[in-house]
Amino acid sequence: MKILIVKDYDEMSKKAANMVASQIILKPESVIGLATGDTPKGMYRQLVKLYKDGYVDFKNVKTFNLDEYYGLEKDNPQSYNYYMMENLFKHVNIKRENINIPNGMAEDLEIECEEYEKKIEELGGIDLQVLGIGRNGHIGFNEPDLKFEAKTHLVRLDEDTIKANSRFFNSIEEVPTMAISMGIKTIMNARKIILLASGKEKAEAIYKTVNGKITPKVPASVLQLHPDVTLIIDKEAASLL
Ligand code: F6R
Repeated sequence: MKILIVKDYDEMSKKAANMVASQIILKPESVIGLATGDTPKGMYRQLVKLYKDGYVDFKNVKTFNLDEYYGLEKDNPQSYNYYMMENLFKHVNIKRENINIPNGMAEDLEIECEEYEKKIEELGGIDLQVLGIGRNGHIGFNEPDLKFEAKTHLVRLDEDTIKANSRFFNSIEEVPTMAISMGIKTIMNARKIILLASGKEKAEAIYKTVNGKITPKVPASVLQLHPDVTLIIDKEAASLL
């Protein structure tokens, strides 16, 4: 595990965007795994800038998002689909057919999850996966559990996650309680992983990710076993290391 401790959110965002951009420059048809939430917003802003300045081309890039809420339409402003359009996709030249986000409105969720996995495999697997981390150590929506859930699956969100994510909704009652998420194996199969974290509230989760026991109770701890993970974290998130 490589750990890059940077000054603040801006520096974290720039470093992360540069890593994604260099992946795409080295392999223009890269398969990139993407995250949502507050943490990667700055990285997306930087990537849009790099694109507009002509440094990176999304023409042949394929993407798979980690997760999506269950029961939200794609055009719902709280959906991760909408988030991705607003924060990245509508600003760059990625082809719509190369964008993959779990469909939270799928009639048959089991088939949706299986097909998502199959498509990742068919496209040769994920070259670079971007992760954020929940205060409880979740990655994607793999919540603390008794076992690591391997593949893309339907999850029931933790109270803590619902509370944390209620800041994006009008009220806590509006936060969906279920989501579709890539599994731990799906994430671990990525050839390269970068995990971003900013702020004091992530410090404990980062400490456990780096120094704790590998346990499904702290899903991100499994990253200790991945051969190519870089943590890009600001001073506050690194404050307990
Ligand atoms: C979102 C995701 C989640 C977030 C995590 C942190 O696609 O996979 O694991 O990365 O909940 O969210 P923020 O960045 O809002 O603190």
